[in-house]
Amino acid sequence: TEALRLGIAGLGTVGVGVVRILRKQARLLEVRTGRRIEIVAVSARDAGKDRGVTLSGYAWETDPVALARRDDIDVFVELMGGSDGAAKAATEAALASGKHVVTANKALLALHGQALAEQAEAAGLSIRYEAAVAGGIPVVKALTEGLAGNEITRVMGVMNGTCNYILTRMQATEQGYNALFEEASKLGYLEADPNLDVGGIDASHKLAILASIAFGTKVNFDGVEIEGIQRVTLEDIRQAADMGYRIKLLGVAQRSPRGLVQRMQPCLVPANSPLGQLEGGTNMVVIEGDAVEQIVLRGPGAGEGPTASAVLGDICDLARGCRLPVFGQPATTLEEARPAQTGLP
Ligand code: NDP
Ligand code: HSE
Repeated sequence: TEALRLGIAGLGTVGVGVVRILRKQARLLEVRTGRRIEIVAVSARDAGKDRGVTLSGYAWETDPVALARRDDIDVFVELMGGSDGAAKAATEAALASGKHVVTANKALLALHGQALAEQAEAAGLSIRYEAAVAGGIPVVKALTEGLAGNEITRVMGVMNGTCNYILTRMQATEQGYNALFEEASKLGYLEADPNLDVGGIDASHKLAILASIAFGTKVNFDGVEIEGIQRVTLEDIRQAADMGYRIKLLGVAQRSPRGLVQRMQPCLVPANSPLGQLEGGTNMVVIEGDAVEQIVLRGPGAGEGPTASAVLGDICDLARGCRLPVFGQPATTLEEARPAQTGLP
């Protein structure tokens, strides 16, 4: 069997993690998928930067669109970030030139996922994005594959590692959240624009993607009611603790008689509950379905290793020939999401 040939755009926290696993586990991945997986070419902005990983043997492309169009790759791996600009242009170019796409980019999918899914499906290609939601937790696979026999009634959870890290460290160290940015940055948790994290936007991108898969609706990021953690104070956290609660940035998506409800906001949860005990960059996703009842997935939601782990899962699926529709069902059959309503029923 011929090798699966990759072009990787973006060599930051996640990209370097993916290169490390591909170099270290080449033999294991070949045994597991029945194919060699090779990096052919890579792209980032600064060709001279020491990234702590050897890139010898890979072609260098300064322009990610040129990388996406190369004839000698089968899969374009987009790990640059940003909902528009280079990430969008290169992803569209990859699909237009017959390449499957693996991405960790939730902002891109939350805003342009429907159009990209239609483009991919029309061309018989796949876009896979396990890393885009809840980092190392295989929640996209759980929803699209393992839970495919369920009518999903609710998806909820903590989906931003930065916010959970900041909220738990505020409680432990009594520092304000500005002082904790540096720590989160060292762990590789932050978005290029950390306002997306603390503003609840990043978690809402993820919630909108999950809701689309769960309810068979078009991704409706604009329908998420969003409140971030910027207004949570140390005093709020102390008072919550005195009453036996923790403050978590919690997302909920569910159908109601009035339409699809999607909300992301700081919530009080009992300190001794599984959600209350979630520490650091850990995420938790709770899925309720008519047959399975309830399952709880918990794990690292950000950082190099966990995110690269999810990207590798997608690459291995493509190596095995798996070609699932982007949102678990063809994009052309997704319902229009009805407008979000205020207030949970
Ligand atoms: P980084 O900022 O660490 O890395 C981004 C990389 O993309 C850098 O190597 C940068 O190049 C390159 N890049 C940016 N713009 C361009 C461009 N126009 N042309 C070529 N290269 C470009 O980001 P992360 O690795 O943290 O995140 C990557 C993606 O993964 C994002 O979509 C993010 O939301 C997502 N993600 C991140 C997680 C995390 O924990 N970090 C978890 C889950 C998803 P250079 O290095 O030269 O500047
Ligand atoms: N900035 C994101 C977070 C990265 O903190 O959760 C993982 O998607």
